[in-house]
This record gives sequence, structure tokens and C-alpha cells, in this order.
Amino acid sequence: MLLQDKVAVVYGAAGEIGGAVARAFAGEGARVFLTGRLQAPVEVVAKDIVSAGGYAEAAEVDAIDEPAVDRHLLSVIDKAGRVDISFNAIGIPDTKILGVPLAELDIETFSLPITAYTRSYFLTAHLAAAHMIPKKSGVIMTVTALPARMGSRLNGGYGPAMAAKEALTRDLSAELAPAGVRVVGLRPQAMPDTPTIKDAFEPRAKASGMTWEQWKELLASRTHPRRLMTLEEVANMAVFLASDKASGMTGTTVNLTMGSLDD
Ligand SMILES: NC(=O)c1ccc[n+]([C@@H]2O[C@H](COP(=O)([O-])OP(=O)(O)OC[C@H]3O[C@@H](n4cnc5c(N)ncnc54)[C@H](OP(=O)(O)O)[C@@H]3O)[C@@H](O)[C@H]2O)c1
Repeated sequence: MLLQDKVAVVYGAAGEIGGAVARAFAGEGARVFLTGRLQAPVEVVAKDIVSAGGYAEAAEVDAIDEPAVDRHLLSVIDKAGRVDISFNAIGIPDTKILGVPLAELDIETFSLPITAYTRSYFLTAHLAAAHMIPKKSGVIMTVTALPARMGSRLNGGYGPAMAAKEALTRDLSAELAPAGVRVVGLRPQAMPDTPTIKDAFEPRAKASGMTWEQWKELLASRTHPRRLMTLEEVANMAVFLASDKASGMTGTTVNLTMGSLDD
């Protein structure tokens, strides 16, 4: 198994990507510590993992609250002795942000995703690094999306937030890789099997003049295989990146846009 006995912490583990990645990590032998803003939905994922024979523990942790993230990491170290993988997959609710042109958006709403994502990604990486550096080993993982690298419409501050996460991935790696800690990101194509994509479409439906089916077809038509991505494909790549098989990979965000975005 690719992650046998690795200790992984997942933030936003009740979410679509966080949950799928947590299940895949556990399926490859990792001990997974799941966290989320609310305990109940994280507990559901943890129970699934345990019933499938894996190791999982659930905890309520707000990933933008420094003392909460710190306390949780200390409890993981207490139980498991170390943290090998830190995976942040939180998604900031954006239904009130999307669909408003930048020319009409107020500064607080524009800044919200930029502040929340960069704060959470900095905190979880910074606190994990403090435990990984003394062990000279660890992997810190991030998740972004297409607007990190291409112009998009009616997305508020989401694109700048995604671009900031990719820059942070590179800078963390430049500082941490000499200490044995890799930092890698995933930039997945849209996954229509997650409600996230439909939720992102709804506020833009009117401006786009397209139905949901037409919009999905348009996104798919921009990929080389003419289809969108599955959660399983993203989780499989996360497992590989977290594993020692990817020891040569750091300071980069893997382009999972299936050809929609050239490197
Ligand atoms: N789904 C896709 O197709 C896709 C593709 C590319 C990139 N992405 C990006 O990947 C990220 C995750 O996407 P997703 O589809 O997995 O979203 P999701 O299903 O909405 O999951 C996000 C999770 O993060 C949790 N969360 C939000 N704020 C938090 C906080 N402060 N502390 C702890 N947990 C928090 C949410 O909890 P609550 O429900 O309690 O708020 C939710 O469980 C997003 O940035 C998204 O834009 C998604």
C-alpha cells in the first residue's frame, strides 16, 4: 500500500474533495485524522472509513482558527507520534460572491475568499511544518482550480485566492524542501459529481445564457478527452503525490485540467 502507516491530517474532510481524499488515503494504509468546521459530517466520513477497515478519527476544527488547528495537531502528535501529510481541502461558501461583476463588487466581499483561503492555507502549513521539520520529512498539500491561471468571469476574488495558494505552495516548498518537507498542489478540472460545481454555476446561469447541461458540455469541450473529471481521479493523484513515490515532486501544482490549461 502506498501510504502504509503514514499519519495524515485532512482539513475540510466533510467536503467532496476532502472526503474522497481522506477515504483514498485510508484505503492505502494511512491513519487519517479528519477535521471540519462541524463534527457531525466529519464523523460520517470517519465511520465509513472505519467500517471499510481503515483508521480514522474525526474532530471539529475551524481551519482558520490558529489555536484550534494548533491544539488538534498536538493531539495528533500525542496519539500518533508525528504528522506525515497535511492536506487542506476547505472550500469557502461563495454563493453570495459569484455572479457579481468585479466593477460592482464591494471590497469586503472581494477580499473574503482571498483572506480566508490564504489564512487557512498559511496556518495549516505553518503549524504542520513546525512538527515536520524536526523529523526532516513530511508532505503539505494544497488544492486550487483553473481560475488560478486563467481569466474567468463573475468569480469575485476566487481567482486571485487560487493564484495566491499556488504562489504559497511554491514559496513554502522553496523554504521547506531543504528540511525534507515537500509542498505540492492539485489543480483539478471541474467535477460535475460534486454539488460545488452546480452551486458555482447557479449564480452565473442568467449571465451565461446557458442551461446547466450546456455549461457542463462547454467545460467538457475545453478538455482534451472531452469530458470532466471524477473525484476518484483527483483522490488517486492525491495518494500518489502524498506517497514516497512522488519524492521528486515539490514546489509545484499538478495540472489536472485535462488539457484545458496548457503548462
Ligand atoms: N468540486 C470541484 O469540482 C472542484 C474543482 C476544482 C477545485 N475545487 C476547489 O477545491 C476546494 C474544495 O472543493 P469541494 O468541492 O470539496 O468543496 P465542498 O464540498 O464545499 O467542501 C468544502 C469543505 O470545507 C469545509 N470548510 C469551509 N470552511 C472551513 C473552515 N474554516 N474550517 C474547516 N472546514 C471548512 C466545508 O464545511 P461547511 O460545509 O461546514 O462549510 C466543507 O465541508 C474549493 O476551494 C473548490 O473551489 C473544487
